[in-house]
Amino acid sequence: MDKLRVAMIGAGPRGMSHVRSIAGAPNIEFVAVCDIDEEVGRPVAEEFGVEYVSSIDALLADYDIDGCGICVPTPYHYDTAMQVIEANRHLVTEKPMAKSIAQAWEMMEAAESRGLQAAISYQLRFGPVYLKMKEICEQIDPLQVLFARQRPMMAAKYLSAEPFDGIMDFISHDIDMIPFLAGREPKAVFATMGRNVWADADAIEYMGCQIELGEGPHKTVGVISSSMGGGGVPQRLDVVGKNGVAVATGNDIKFAVGPNPTEKGVIRDFWNATFTGESRDFTADLYRHWADACLNDEVDLAPAASYRDGYNALLVSLAMVESGESGEVVDLEEFAEANS
Ligand SMILES: NC(=O)c1ccc[n+]([C@@H]2O[C@H](COP(=O)([O-])OP(=O)(O)OC[C@H]3O[C@@H](n4cnc5c(N)ncnc54)[C@H](O)[C@@H]3O)[C@@H](O)[C@H]2O)c1
Repeated sequence: MDKLRVAMIGAGPRGMSHVRSIAGAPNIEFVAVCDIDEEVGRPVAEEFGVEYVSSIDALLADYDIDGCGICVPTPYHYDTAMQVIEANRHLVTEKPMAKSIAQAWEMMEAAESRGLQAAISYQLRFGPVYLKMKEICEQIDPLQVLFARQRPMMAAKYLSAEPFDGIMDFISHDIDMIPFLAGREPKAVFATMGRNVWADADAIEYMGCQIELGEGPHKTVGVISSSMGGGGVPQRLDVVGKNGVAVATGNDIKFAVGPNPTEKGVIRDFWNATFTGESRDFTADLYRHWADACLNDEVDLAPAASYRDGYNALLVSLAMVESGESGEVVDLEEFAEANS
């Protein structure tokens, strides 16, 4: 088998990015588009010259496929993914992984026990800026990671009171990125957030959070700052490591690798290196890599986010909301136990 046979479930606005990625991947054969809304799904299937299917049951029963992309609304990720997993098909699922950590845990266990390649669509991990930041982080031992991404108001469909909606949907990428860069496990969170600032929908509209990662005397602190009231504010990603610093502003990175001078007032040789990445949708890179991992046992799914990464990100995300509501620090192990 030199091409993975793949169908797309959910052909809404975000699903189209998956569709284009599947259709364009040299190691994927695009088989079908499944959407319960025929007016959405059929034209997409016709445009790409593949079959249109109206139900997941029919897709899984009648089509010879090895894997599926899933891009249905978040409340339906669990049911859809479990159907695909129980039919022993590999899958890429949109973020956030599910509505609850109990659901995400079950999805992860089910996929892992069947040996399926199950990825979460955290496509930023394939962006050259983030891959370069990851490489730098491996050299500098991150102690502080600050990720600040502001944006304008989100679409009405995300403005709900659900803890995975509002700005939490947008920053699920940031929540995945901090442990990815730090290379350490998140342990606890403390958050401050607000609802009903710009719209009366009870959605979380701004979020500031501190995440503690790792153990021992030199823990890493991750900070996320994001809102839907800061459209136009440049995004920042700053990392201060034991052995260097790196700053990404948009697609440009400036960094210095080397020991922190211990003499008073002396700074490292700023900035002795730069890198510029490109800006585009990296979903295509994610699909190509996932298909490679499905086709070849020797290809690791990383740097794609696995279901385990998706579970961890959802755990942190829901704990942030709990902390934002209670005003207390949330220990992730205790939170996971209480909510599984
Ligand atoms: N990774 C990213 O950067 C990113 C960006 C935007 C959205 N998303 C995520 O993508 C997901 C979908 O977003 P969207 O804006 O395209 O949603 P949407 O609601 O506009 O579209 C979803 C589509 O799925 C179809 N659908 C629903 N249930 C179905 C089922 N059981 N079987 C088949 N089709 C079904 C709907 O008919 C619709 O066409 C959400 O989870 C969202 O959080 C991720």
